[in-house]
Parts: sequence; structure tokens; C-alpha cells
Amino acid sequence: MDTMKNLYFTLIMLLIIGCNETKTEIMAEDTSINKKWWKEAIVYQIYPRSFKDTDGDGVGDLKGIVEKLDYIKSLGVNAVWLNPIYSSPNDDNGYDVSDYRNIMTDFGTMEDFDLMLKGMHERGIKLIMDVVVNHSSDEHEWFKQSRSSRENPYRDYYHWWPAEKGKPNYRYSLFDENGDAWKYDAQTDAYYLHYFSQKQPDLNWENPKVRQEVYDIMKFWAEKGVDGFRLDAFQFAAKDTTFPAFPKEDLQKNFIKYYAMQGNLHGYLKEMNEEVFSKYDVMSVAEGAGRNFEDAHNLVDEDRKELNMAYAFDGVDIAKPEGYSLKHFKDVFSKWDSAFAKKGWLSIFLSNHDQARLVSRFANDSNEFRATSAKMLNTFILSMRGTPYCYYGDELGMTNIGFETIEEYQDIAAINGYKKALKEGEDMTVFMKNLKFSSRDNGRTPMQWDTTENANFTIGKPWLPVNENYKEINVEAEEQNPDSVLSYFKKMVNLRKENPVLIYGDYTLIEPENEQVYAYTRILDNQKMLVILNFSDKEASLEIPATFLIKNVAINNYPNYNTKDQTVLLQPYQSIIFSLK
Ligand code: GLC
Repeated sequence: MDTMKNLYFTLIMLLIIGCNETKTEIMAEDTSINKKWWKEAIVYQIYPRSFKDTDGDGVGDLKGIVEKLDYIKSLGVNAVWLNPIYSSPNDDNGYDVSDYRNIMTDFGTMEDFDLMLKGMHERGIKLIMDVVVNHSSDEHEWFKQSRSSRENPYRDYYHWWPAEKGKPNYRYSLFDENGDAWKYDAQTDAYYLHYFSQKQPDLNWENPKVRQEVYDIMKFWAEKGVDGFRLDAFQFAAKDTTFPAFPKEDLQKNFIKYYAMQGNLHGYLKEMNEEVFSKYDVMSVAEGAGRNFEDAHNLVDEDRKELNMAYAFDGVDIAKPEGYSLKHFKDVFSKWDSAFAKKGWLSIFLSNHDQARLVSRFANDSNEFRATSAKMLNTFILSMRGTPYCYYGDELGMTNIGFETIEEYQDIAAINGYKKALKEGEDMTVFMKNLKFSSRDNGRTPMQWDTTENANFTIGKPWLPVNENYKEINVEAEEQNPDSVLSYFKKMVNLRKENPVLIYGDYTLIEPENEQVYAYTRILDNQKMLVILNFSDKEASLEIPATFLIKNVAINNYPNYNTKDQTVLLQPYQSIIFSLK
């Protein structure tokens, strides 16, 4: 017995000494933690077209968002990123802007916008606007002027190549059915550049007038009181306007290498920071994070005064129809975390409007495991270091709709991608299978509010069909069920908000080789949490290091858990967060 007591005593002493050591270390580092509201934010992303329709035209609108503000508040999130709501002919659902200072007719009016912003602020929710300025719509007045004659003062707002110089060097377009980013325009016998669709001509950022126009537009919205900007496709904005030759095949496969972070992009961001960000309490995040860690750092290194937060795609790109390796997934997230551990800040996300549904891509949308695995993925997003982004509907565990025929798709990327694949003689069965898994339309089906027709998204005909599973997966049903994905999501949001360790704490991966379980600790001062996520549909286990002493279970997506000695036994897709002593 005495030996036991001695052992116990020694253990306690070791722990105390250990804790003190860790504490001094962390305290020292803690002083360098630069707390910001945008680091503590939990962002809810709304695709306005699909959120809530109030006028029966089958398209969501701003009044719909106003109607659902209390719902958004009830989630516990404190920021909203809204996809573009500006006037647009909708070639790419608002990512083709024809007037940056007006609201798209489908979505409502500026009064609706003001009401929405006020309603958000009254509820303590910040608003982040999407700024689409790598390109505009070809129906924007600037482009109409620009294409009208070579002498027009707006000519240099875009990239033109006079046809008498021959065909310009090949440039790849992401949305063009020929994959060609140069479009011939007979009116002035010249080609214009469009990295995206033909109706999305690229703006000429090398022209200081264009830059000034954009800063003025951003100030217009900042003056209205918006709290942040997400810069769409901005890493592609700067270009070498001599348009040198690039190897065609490599460009098609690795366009980021050739398109991202070119020319004076950093200079433009510094200028934007000086002109806009530094003058308002706004946060900034760009889509994409360049070609490597160095690019990403340069974008968000505080001393450089460019942007606040990186938004890297390496993680979200991992899911494939044939599955993915969890080891690789852990590797990617851990590498990004360690690259940003001391400086800079990351976004954490597994879905957005350009991706299929998170539970269908990264976990399991079968009846048996959908809810459990959706809870597990939400635990991951909300327990990592970085600002979490939750895409509308993922809080319910909404799933892919999985269209079978090309006629069902609405997305220009899917439709033109199909035409291109056909022309190039691709195996169309494989193409359709991939599309069914990864198409952006999967993530854009209407929000599922209740069990009434069309999930009560609209009283009209929805622009994209509502997923048939809305009778089970919907807000009303999940609000009433304490075990639903939604109820769990709210608990997890609260847990993050109440525990700064989940926001600022150091991240350490455990058992990197485990192919089923993703586990890590988060440590800040004397607060320690252990996150354990079973990413598989089988039982799994994790051996906890002997030094980890469990204080309590902070959250668990099963009613209980089992241990055997130092091993935690996990049910399929079980996720548990322990507070450690
Ligand atoms: C970004 C947007 C995407 C859009 C594209 C062109 O990638 O997220 O939805 O289609 O830019 O604006």
C-alpha cells in the first residue's frame, strides 16, 4: 500500500513539475498571442440563392436571410460570409458582377441589404462580403465601354490582344468549353482574356485606375458597415501582360503554378490594405493561398500588412470518389498548422459553395452513419486552430443530391466541363461518376427548413431541386431532436466559444500513422484538450499516452465511451473531446 502511495505521490509531483514547466513555456508564448475578433469568429457561409426565398420566384433572397436571422443566431455563430449579392446576369451565380454597388434583382434591394446588416449587427453577427474583382461580368458598364472601341478610355480596364499580332499565347480557362481563356471579339478585332467563363472577362489590375475603382467600391461597402471581405480568385489578379508562352499541358494540369501570385500581386494587396483595410475594422481573407507555404505566409504575415487570414485548398481537395487516406489528410492539416503555429492565421473548412457536401465527401452519408459522421466532421472543423467556416446545411448534415444526367445540372463549370470532356473524347461514364460525387451543384441545393413542400425553401419552383431527404433532414425536425446533427453542432460551437484553448491552443498530432483515428491535443496555459475522431465505419482504438489524465468528457457524439487500460475504444465515426487535467 505504501509503495502505491509513494508511487502516487511521485506521479503527482511529476505532474505538478511537468505542468509548471509547460505553463512557463506557454505563458511566454501566450504573450505573443495576438487576439483578434476574426480569429475567435465562427463563420457561417450563406449561399443566398439557396437559403430562403420569400417572393416565390424559386431563388433565395435577402428578405429570406432577414427572416432567418434568429435561426443563424441560434447556431451560436458570430460571422456570416455571404456569397456575391451584387447585380449580375448570373452566368456564374453572381460571380459575374455587372454593378458592384447594387443588389441583384433576384435577391432584393439595397433597403433589404441595410435591414439585413442591421439585423445581423443587432444580434452580434458580423458580415463578410465576397469581392469578385479578378474579373467582372461582360455586362458591366466598364466592359461594354472597353469592348466598344480600341480608343475607349475603359479599353485598358481589361486585357486585350489585337488580332493583327496573331493569336495570343495559350491561356487555360477553368470554365470554357474549349478550355481557352482568349475570346475573339469581332467588334474591335481583338481577343480578351477570361480565366473563368467567356462572360467573366479578367480585369486589368496593372491599370491603377482599375485598382482605384475597386478600392472605392470596397470603401462604399465598408462605409455601410460591413465587417470583412473575402477576395474571390484574387491570387490570379496580377498578370504578366506580355503574355509569354506557357507549356499548354502543364498549364492545364497545374494552372495555380502559372496563375497564382504573379507580377505585383503583393504590391496590390499592400495598396488595398493601405487604402481600405487599414481604415476600417474589417477582416480580410483571400480565396486560395498561393503555390506553397511561403506564398501563404507572405499573404498573411502581419508585418507585411496585406491580408489577415489564409484560405488554403490542400485539405478540401483531398476527398476523391474512390476515397482518401486519413494519414494523408492528417498530414496535410498538421503541416499547415505547424507552418502557421508562430505567425499568420488559417481558415479551417471542408466545404463551401464550390464543393460537394462535406458528409458525402469526407465521411459517410448512408442512413446508418450520416448523422454520426456529420457530427464527427463538425467536431473536427470546430476544434482545429484557425477560423472555422461552416457552410449552410452542414450543421444539419445535408448530403449530395447526386444528379445522374447532365440536364439536371445548373452549374456552368459542370455544363461546360461536360462539353469539353465530350469534345476531348473522355470516358463520359467516368466523367459523370466524378461529377455526381464532386459537382458544385451538390452543395447548392436549397436549405431544408421543414417537412412541407420543397422543404419550405420556396412556395415556387426551386431553381435547383430540393434534396428528397428533406423530410428527415431539416431544421424543424433537428431542432426538436436533442441528438440531431444540429443540436450537436450548437453544443460544439458553444464548446469552442467557451474554451479559448480550442481557438488559440497549440496543436499536437497523436499517432500520425493511425489510418482510422485522427487525434490531437490542444494546449493553452494550463488548459488541455484531447480530440479523438474515428474517421472510419469500423470500431477503432487509440492509446492515450500515460501522462494524459482525463478530467471530463467535454463532448461525445455517442452516449458513452469505453476504455481499457490506457486505450480508448471507439465506435464507428465516434468523436470525443476530453478535458485533461
Ligand atoms: C471562385 C468562386 C467560384 C467562382 C469563381 C469565379 O473560385 O468561389 O464560385 O465560380 O471564383 O468567380
